[in-house]
Amino acid sequence: MQFDKPATTNPIDQLKMVGKPIHRIDGQLKTTGRAMYAYEWHDQNTPYVYGYPVGAAIAKGRVKSIDASNAKKSTGVLAVVTTLDVGNLEKGKFNTAKLFGGAEIQHYHQAIAVVVAQTFEQARAAAALVKVDYEEEAGIFDLRAAMASAAKPDESTEPDTAVGDFEAAFKSAPVTLNESYTTPDQSHSMMEPHASIAVWDGDEVTVWTSSQMIDWWRTDLATTLGIEKEKVHLMSPFIGGGFGGKLFLRADAVLAAFGSKAVGRPVKVALPRPFVPNNTTHRPATIQRIRVGAERDGKITAIAHESWSGDLPGGGPETAVNQTRLLYAGANRMTAMRLATLDLPEGNAMRAPGEAPGLMALEIAIDEMAEKVGMDPIQFRIVNDTQVDPEHPERPFSQRNLNGCLTLGAERFGWSERPKTASRREGNWLVGMGVAAAFRNNLVIPSGARVKLDREGVVTVETDMTDIGTGSYTIIAQTAAEMMGVGIDKVAVQLGDSRFPVSAGSGGQFGANSSTSGVYAACVKLREAVASKLGFNSQDAVFENGQVRSGNRSVALADAAGDEALVGEDTMKWGDLTKTHQQSTFGAHFVEVGVDGATGETRIRRMLAVCAAGRILNPITARSQVIGAMTMGAGGALSEELAVDTRRGFFVNHDLAGYEVPVHADIPHQEVIFMDEADPMSSPMKAKGVGELGLCGVSAAIANAIYNATGIRVRHYPITLDKLIGELPDVT
Ligand code: MOS
Repeated sequence: MQFDKPATTNPIDQLKMVGKPIHRIDGQLKTTGRAMYAYEWHDQNTPYVYGYPVGAAIAKGRVKSIDASNAKKSTGVLAVVTTLDVGNLEKGKFNTAKLFGGAEIQHYHQAIAVVVAQTFEQARAAAALVKVDYEEEAGIFDLRAAMASAAKPDESTEPDTAVGDFEAAFKSAPVTLNESYTTPDQSHSMMEPHASIAVWDGDEVTVWTSSQMIDWWRTDLATTLGIEKEKVHLMSPFIGGGFGGKLFLRADAVLAAFGSKAVGRPVKVALPRPFVPNNTTHRPATIQRIRVGAERDGKITAIAHESWSGDLPGGGPETAVNQTRLLYAGANRMTAMRLATLDLPEGNAMRAPGEAPGLMALEIAIDEMAEKVGMDPIQFRIVNDTQVDPEHPERPFSQRNLNGCLTLGAERFGWSERPKTASRREGNWLVGMGVAAAFRNNLVIPSGARVKLDREGVVTVETDMTDIGTGSYTIIAQTAAEMMGVGIDKVAVQLGDSRFPVSAGSGGQFGANSSTSGVYAACVKLREAVASKLGFNSQDAVFENGQVRSGNRSVALADAAGDEALVGEDTMKWGDLTKTHQQSTFGAHFVEVGVDGATGETRIRRMLAVCAAGRILNPITARSQVIGAMTMGAGGALSEELAVDTRRGFFVNHDLAGYEVPVHADIPHQEVIFMDEADPMSSPMKAKGVGELGLCGVSAAIANAIYNATGIRVRHYPITLDKLIGELPDVT
């Protein structure tokens, strides 16, 4: 099915199933430990063994030799496969850095061997005995030092945009801001580390893994192993979080495949937690410069956003200027991205790549500008709203209700109680409120599904879509139930298997809308098959309460299927509506903080997100996405930072003791409000993404609340105590 015209009324609009607060259909499997994660898929009848990775101890250079003789003699060891043994392997197309194979080292903790042993402990102990001789080369590890050499990245990222005459307008503006902001390298730090079990059957390999994108992984694993894609079978039905860290094939799957080939049995490999930050990808650090010029009435006349980031050769920029192209009006504008070559581990997508770090800077700048023009920051944003793409004014937004989010949020949060800067005290606490706009583009990706109806009247959906904790199982079941007119209990959902039709996968907050649209398309086919079998006209057949009705004839769905199951299969493809209309999601984040007047310790007291993101398919799972994202934004604001050793070229705090993500005690009251929307431009589901929107702007809202509480403007994340303590106002 091709979606190239705005959706009209369709069976989803009944909203008997879709839009309802239905609990996760996979919830019981998870809470009872019966959901099988990648590391747990072992067939008790086939003895499996353990692989433990060895990572490079240098950031750049070559492996001269590897002496695995002691490791091979170690108790329980079955095999050691080194990067020199396998030779140069072709790199998959989605990875910037190669994962394994050959002598070249591109980054610290690049996988250079896997030790396979009877037990995990034996493999780990033997891995420590592998001796590696390196030829180390000097690398570039410091973004600030590399800024001067940063170049214009590949045109595909649209590095520069310009409209009007920014420089002239900025110069003549009566109110101006010109500031720099920085965001650090961040780690996805998902609960479940990357893990795989591989087993060969002849020249075919089956891998149970933890992947957001089955088909991308399948393609790249086949390339890396040098076999045909059809010989690779991937399974990833349950995933303990990804946040973008599992978008692309990782070393665990490659090492498990080579390990298994060497020993002729199933091998499981999990990346030890300390491998995750340096062996896999991370969100790259940015240096951002923002200039804004406005009239005294608050209207922006000039806005510029430039961003510098770094990556390995062949990599791309962190697209931190994205939202500034679309979020606020202003006749004269420019954005630019520059990319430095860094020999740190591969920088790549982490939840809301581009907008998340971009808004961390932009939404502080907007708070600063509001103060300069003497306006409330909400009013300042409202005055500068635009209903068209400001760089291409002929393109309207399909829907945009940022102003509604800001005003409703202000009312619900009690914004009118916001104190004057550094004026509210409660004992030793300085208390303040902050706000920020949320913005994230809405992407759509082709997505396929197969739907079967059997003689019991059960509808089974098969798609290689993944559920990374987001609720895919549930919203897909709701979609199929709505389309076929059955209860949720009559729907079975099978995900994450490369034998199923290729879906959008989970990423870029495109998963929910795209994958349910694919299921919609397949269900349309199945409805046609049912109608045609019964001799009904598919246009007027009504699917309701497990029955199909046409005129005065009504037949049970189960009977329609008969002994032969009926099948509908299709892929939703997307036309030009994302080109003619700018499709984005909007929101507003509100935060109240207390900052300890003596120590500078920040405690978040309340958080509210108001989201305008199309039809909400399931308010429970959507809310869960947003509160999780708000939590991530709290980490980004206050604690998360990969510390770069700029001499040796690696992230030093490579575990969850040193890389500090929020815990329950850090997050108090959170509220989420969804605006009542349905966007006919987005899909037949009229839905959009929300999982990344929830993160966008949160950290800036916290920074702005800290400013309101203390009068201290911190422009460099994370906002740790040391950045506040020297400037705290006297609270005595
Ligand atoms: Mo997302 S960073 O595309 O998983």
